[in-house]
Amino acid sequence: MDDAFEPHAASQTDRFLQDVLTGLAQTQKTLPCQYFYDEAGSNLFEQITELPEYYPTRTEIGILTRHATAMADALGPRALLVEYGAGASTKTRILLDALVDPAGYVPIDVSEDFLLQTADALKLEYPDLAVHPIAADFMVELGLPDHIDGTPVGFFPGSTIGNLSDGEIDQFLRAARRLLGPQSKFIIGVDLRKSPDILMPAYDDAQGVTAAFNLNLLRRINHDLGANFDLDAFQHEAIWNDEDSRIEMHLRSLKSQTVTIGTQSIAFAQDETIHTENSRKFDLTRLVDVIAPTGWTLRENWRDPRDFFAVLLLDAA
Ligand code: TRP
Repeated sequence: MDDAFEPHAASQTDRFLQDVLTGLAQTQKTLPCQYFYDEAGSNLFEQITELPEYYPTRTEIGILTRHATAMADALGPRALLVEYGAGASTKTRILLDALVDPAGYVPIDVSEDFLLQTADALKLEYPDLAVHPIAADFMVELGLPDHIDGTPVGFFPGSTIGNLSDGEIDQFLRAARRLLGPQSKFIIGVDLRKSPDILMPAYDDAQGVTAAFNLNLLRRINHDLGANFDLDAFQHEAIWNDEDSRIEMHLRSLKSQTVTIGTQSIAFAQDETIHTENSRKFDLTRLVDVIAPTGWTLRENWRDPRDFFAVLLLDAA
């Protein structure tokens, strides 16, 4: 179809181009991480969650499974579950199965096709549940569907909160508090600080799935924006930054090269990197300090026996 007749799609591409050019104009080149999740990226990410090295998904699912009844008790009946960055909604099913008479499910995800497929599957599995998907970046200001009643419960699993900076966490939690309202609750999964011996392989696996996921961002830029990144001339790299308590994902240029995006030429020195993502590993007391001013209070936290991961229950303050 002609792009001229699809103003929405055209403006999304403009936005993507703008974001890419802005990021690559920085001294430390960077790319915004929401663009990882096109159809191919969403599928690669689902593969990451099943890797033997990638402990977060398995650990969080264990916590949710073990404490689902306690969570359902704390949330009460008629919950309206609002999930930020829903992906394949695997963890949602655990909560939905434990909740007493849930009112509805609002999955929010940037990956539209993936979101709609998942929403359709859930509608079949939970015929009494009102399912209302929203295809959007969860960092933008959103509205809740007004035809579904129930107590809003935010759900933000996967330690996606760790992909945000302190400033973004503040902005996100305040916006969520406004969206979900004074009676709401929030369930958030956070990955905790641990040995780099466990962290590093989780972000640089033996099969190279994480590398393929990271490089897929360049493939997407080539495809959507007509750029000419040579995918063999960039290499996935994970770094543990102890001071900032985070894994950093980079793409390293293996040679001095110039890449064309639209009308722009972008020069890369040999070994220069594009910083594509941070995955922060939290200390709970520090995180509580970040949460406190945003209108939420920590009511409860559940952890796995190794203290790898925590699931927090917040109350609207
Ligand atoms: N929220 C996930 C995490 O921080 C996202 C993620 C996992 C990721 N592996 C990645 C992002 C590799 C970029 C590259 O664990």
